Amino acid sequence: MSAEIIDGKASAARLRARIAEDVRALAARGITPGLAVVLVGEDPASEVYVRSKGRMTREVGMTSFEHRLPADTPEDALLALIAQLNADPAVNGILVQLPLPRHMDEAAVINAIAPEKDVDGFHVINAGRLATGQTAMVPCTPLGCLMLLRDRLGPLAGKRAVVIGRSNIVGKPMAQLLLRDSATVTIAHSRTADLPALCREAEILIAAVGRPFFVQGDWIRPGATVIDVGINRTEDGLVGDVDFVAARQRAGAITPVPGGVGPMTIACLLANTLTAAARTHG
Ligand code: GUN
Repeated sequence: MSAEIIDGKASAARLRARIAEDVRALAARGITPGLAVVLVGEDPASEVYVRSKGRMTREVGMTSFEHRLPADTPEDALLALIAQLNADPAVNGILVQLPLPRHMDEAAVINAIAPEKDVDGFHVINAGRLATGQTAMVPCTPLGCLMLLRDRLGPLAGKRAVVIGRSNIVGKPMAQLLLRDSATVTIAHSRTADLPALCREAEILIAAVGRPFFVQGDWIRPGATVIDVGINRTEDGLVGDVDFVAARQRAGAITPVPGGVGPMTIACLLANTLTAAARTHG
């Protein structure tokens, strides 16, 4: 058996087309959603992300504000910029690209963003709202994974899901979203005992570890839906966390890297910005 390839690129293009339509409807009321992206320092991978976020923001008809600060910027100066963006009515969404330089307190910076403009969904208020079932800004990568899963599987209620990785950005919010859809969720991590056996129980397997080829083919339950969140730069180019060639022999469906989760992340960022703008303007 060879798994169906889940085409995240095509799903993301459809989502962006729907967003562009909604942006045109807002424009007819004189409203243009705006997304501010802040990049501190010169991390090359972050540069690539920020450039493509800016391009896609403009493509759907939103305004992109880009702020580039040197790596040695004092934290106070970044906090002052965030305060200015919080107060700016043209800015509906604020994203501070991570990782930040080491002299900065990441949590303090994220929590300085107004929760209603926190399109990354990283603010502690949004994390708390998600965990308690309230309306929240939801982190973009897990939101994109959820959309791909619902497209493929329909309702997720009762499905057995294993999330490998417990980060605040992917693993924890992914588990919350699956739980909200009534899946039975296990979060696995570096201290989990007998991870291969646990994974073999998963009808839905989400890999968010950040290690190339971490998930082996024989860990996959036959017919499972496998979502690979990993983006690992190797000598052979970008690879995921899953041994794709081997996993494909057992899975029912699997996301490729690149072209799987990645494009959905940026599309969901635009969706969150649109949501933020729509909430502000009623
Ligand atoms: N760095 C890597 N992924 C992300 C993301 O989703 N948001 C932000 N702000 N920084 C990142």
